[in-house]
Amino acid sequence: MHLGQAASLLLAAAACADAVRTIIPKTSFNSQADFDADWNYNYPWGTDHNGGARMDKAQVKFSSGMVTLTAKKVSGQPDASHGGQAIKINYLSGAIAAKEHFNVSRGGGYDFTGEFKATTTKGTWPAFWLTAVNGWPPEIDMAEWKGSGKISFNTFNTSSVLSWKDVTYSSPDQFHSIKCEVRDINQKDVSVKFYMDGSLVTTQVGGGFFGKPMYLIINLQMEGSSGSPGPSTDTLYQVRNLEVLSYNP
Ligand SMILES: *[C@@H]1O[C@H](CO)[C@@H](O)[C@H](O)[C@H]1NC(C)=O
Ligand SMILES: *[C@@H]1O[C@H](CO)[C@@H](O)[C@H](O)[C@H]1NC(C)=O
Repeated sequence: MHLGQAASLLLAAAACADAVRTIIPKTSFNSQADFDADWNYNYPWGTDHNGGARMDKAQVKFSSGMVTLTAKKVSGQPDASHGGQAIKINYLSGAIAAKEHFNVSRGGGYDFTGEFKATTTKGTWPAFWLTAVNGWPPEIDMAEWKGSGKISFNTFNTSSVLSWKDVTYSSPDQFHSIKCEVRDINQKDVSVKFYMDGSLVTTQVGGGFFGKPMYLIINLQMEGSSGSPGPSTDTLYQVRNLEVLSYNP
């Protein structure tokens, strides 16, 4: 190889390195200005979803790189409505959604990482997930705790065709690291690798997820799929060192 070839190889390596971009930096929970650059309050569609908590900006606090969502028991709230069903609202809680939408492109993908302190008490339903901007699916539950002592990792092809993995979740009073690698396979399907505390737990495939924009949501829902009644004392869900990297060319 002559010097010109070496130089172009170096340039190619530099171009590759440049293809990794930080979409959400670890500092996004440092200050209100940092938060506002990357996040909105509530779900992308509003304050209610499929459980007994109504989201409220006052239940979201952040400082020093960590966000704390607090669910508190309340009464006198009007019902929520989901899929034609009325749902009793027994809590006010917190949800945040990334301003950026995540769309796996050719040869690309994303890494979503963070450290989570999440309860597995009956009636508490913390989650870290991706869901379709247009229609549904895609949905990838990068981590979800449904009040059963377990953590769940799920990918939905349809509401009845899904991959899931439930794993015993020890020491919920400690932070655990979660990493989810989402990558293009064939310009149609997307591979999803779920890691907990540095070990690969499961690999799933999202059928037809390529090129479909997704929301990133962190929320503390209550009751619903996690059982009821939930706790009458405050429930906390904390996330720190949250980072999203893009590998899209
Ligand atoms: C979802 O679709 C992909 C692509 O067809 C497939 O590889 C995967 O096995 C499907 N998931 C389930 C649970 O069938
Ligand atoms: C998502 O990516 C696909 C394929 O790269 C592209 O065709 C589509 O326009 C993108 N959609 C949005 C909303 O950016």
